[in-house]
Amino acid sequence: GGSALYKAWLQYAKVNDSEVCEVYKPLIQQIVVAGRIEGVLAAAVAELQEGIRSMLGFTPEVVQEPTGTSCLLLQVNKPEGAETAGAAGEGSGTVSKLAVQPGFDPLPMSETGPISQTSAQGKPWRVPKASAALEADGFTLLHVREGGENCLLLTGGSARGVMYGAFHLLRLISMGICPEGLNVRECPRNRLRMINQWDNADGSIERGYAGRSIFYRDGSMVTDLQRVKDYARILASTGINAISINNVNVHEVETHFITGELLLDVARVAAVFREYGIALFLSVNFAAPIAIGGLSTADPLDRGVQAWWKTAVQQIYTAIPDFGGFLVKADSEHRPGPFAYGRDHADGANMLAEALEPYGGLVIWRCFVYNCMQDWRDRRTDRARAAYDHFKPLDGKFRDNVILQIKNGPMDFQVREPVSPLFGALPHTNQVIEFQVAQEYTGQQRHLCYLVPQWKQVLDFDTYALGPETRVKDIVGGSRFPFPHSGVAAVSNIGDEENWTGHTLAQANLYGYGRLVWNPDLSAEAIADEWTRLTFGNHPAVVAGVTGMLMKSWPIYESYTAPLGVGWMVTPHTHYGPDVDGYEYSRWGTYHFADRDGIGVDRTKRSGTGYAAQYFSPNTEMFESLGTCPDELLLFFHHVPYSHVLHSGKTVIQHIYDTHFTGAEEAEGFVQSWEGLRDKIDDIRHAQVAGRLAKQAEHAKHWRDVINTYFYRKSGIPDEQGRTIY
Ligand code: GCU
Repeated sequence: GGSALYKAWLQYAKVNDSEVCEVYKPLIQQIVVAGRIEGVLAAAVAELQEGIRSMLGFTPEVVQEPTGTSCLLLQVNKPEGAETAGAAGEGSGTVSKLAVQPGFDPLPMSETGPISQTSAQGKPWRVPKASAALEADGFTLLHVREGGENCLLLTGGSARGVMYGAFHLLRLISMGICPEGLNVRECPRNRLRMINQWDNADGSIERGYAGRSIFYRDGSMVTDLQRVKDYARILASTGINAISINNVNVHEVETHFITGELLLDVARVAAVFREYGIALFLSVNFAAPIAIGGLSTADPLDRGVQAWWKTAVQQIYTAIPDFGGFLVKADSEHRPGPFAYGRDHADGANMLAEALEPYGGLVIWRCFVYNCMQDWRDRRTDRARAAYDHFKPLDGKFRDNVILQIKNGPMDFQVREPVSPLFGALPHTNQVIEFQVAQEYTGQQRHLCYLVPQWKQVLDFDTYALGPETRVKDIVGGSRFPFPHSGVAAVSNIGDEENWTGHTLAQANLYGYGRLVWNPDLSAEAIADEWTRLTFGNHPAVVAGVTGMLMKSWPIYESYTAPLGVGWMVTPHTHYGPDVDGYEYSRWGTYHFADRDGIGVDRTKRSGTGYAAQYFSPNTEMFESLGTCPDELLLFFHHVPYSHVLHSGKTVIQHIYDTHFTGAEEAEGFVQSWEGLRDKIDDIRHAQVAGRLAKQAEHAKHWRDVINTYFYRKSGIPDEQGRTIY
């Protein structure tokens, strides 16, 4: 598993810039850690040793005390009252002799200047104080050069913070950034930074586009967990701290994960993730008391059911003391839930939460709830309204350890959707946003589609829930409402293919997800730049070329597929490739209503489904009015004639033609751009991507011709430029 494909962004390629090498070498010859090195700290130290060996050609020695005047010092910032001890937080007899202070003073800290103590050689060591309390996952990374000393000081709010700092330092070295004057202070902006696997025990992955599961094969957990460990590493390197390891649709075998032999298998996996500071969650079957407990009901208000879950949870915590909790898809797409017993989502979630509460476990309850048996003739029911209609009335009714998980948009991970109106509408309920890194509706990792710009638009959206500047990122970041729990979750895009993600460039989505969740203020471009350097090296042509391709890719994908926010023109079930009417007369609530005169869904309050009214003012008015509704969402909110003139000055029909012609051309352009980088990227990865891009270009033409032809036939309006339509 040591290929460049496999290493993703942890290439740790040899650094050729001699200047960079010369600066780092003396600084990191020694890694100083006072105290026992175990758990997450051991993972951090091992990563530093291996990364440095691979990039700079020597393995730093790990010592308890520095023997010279230069070193990389790792330490944990001990909170008030905690024992002063080594970085691992474990007692160590050498601490008092150590030249540097292993833990900072009680909080809050002030800039009281350097502490001077005496090093093993009798020279003074000066360690500056951090200027404010560090959260557990935060870290500071300082370059200290004073007198004869020259050291790097990495301080974590916990061992996990040290690990995140170690990955940060390794990133700096990879990117050729010199440490001179380094003064970094990082704290993740989201507490829960989660990945959801949609893996099934039979080894298949629901909406998986990169091979089979790395967790399961033929109904069992894999025995060799090396690949799982490498997955934990790559997730931890971006700051991910939680994972659910089975599909939200919990089938028969997976229902048993919470008990017996299978629970012990789950515990083995939990141990792997624990080493990287990642908490393990399971998706559970709400009807488990019936399916595996032998009870006749799963009614959340039934005492027998409550007792059954309490016993199950107790067994889980015996096997996995730091178990994260449950992820639940209930009363959605035929999954069981509280509705069968006349109970609501709060009754269901609270019952599980009560069982988990004594152990600090969480219930993450999904809001992806709608009527999937709708009659297409019924024009009053609007699937987009469903999550809000179900959950808004329950605000404040959930226990403190319940978090609602809300998809970014009101439908289902389309290329373009408005932001879910639930954000900000539940001021008394913990919430996380759910993204989909897996490219279900965005080209299935056969097409290039870098999704960070899409996620950023969502996170930056101002809900106006508390007036201006109530952005989604601040709501889920927990800074606008006092939620005890909040953050971000996303459906993973990995499988057992050598390069994890099928399309090698789709690795950027997984990397970008973690980095964006760590800091939503990073730009999509900065993240793309980072990823490219770590993955393919720092050659300026590669960095500019790949970053440019990534940044253009979502707009290009949108342009040759779904126009103006309409969505759903895809092949039913597989969701790959065009089928304009595939979902038009189905039960799924997914319609575009195209006829000979026009297209789009009227979701206004005035004449449509009223969905637009679920937003706060002035967003409601913005979407409600044709005059202010943004072009890219026009057909999501309005039904308009093909001759309707957009803000761009084009008619809807001409926009459809133009975007489809240019989109397909630009997809072809990717092939050329990539070809231009042939001599700067290793053959295997170059060929892998080239193959995908060629197919994308072909498939984009198919999309173009199907969509253009469909709308030409419907409308009878010719293309102004007379290009070929069939
Ligand atoms: C989509 C997807 C399903 C998935 C569902 C969910 O509808 O196509 O495969 O189960 O989302 O998020 O639960």
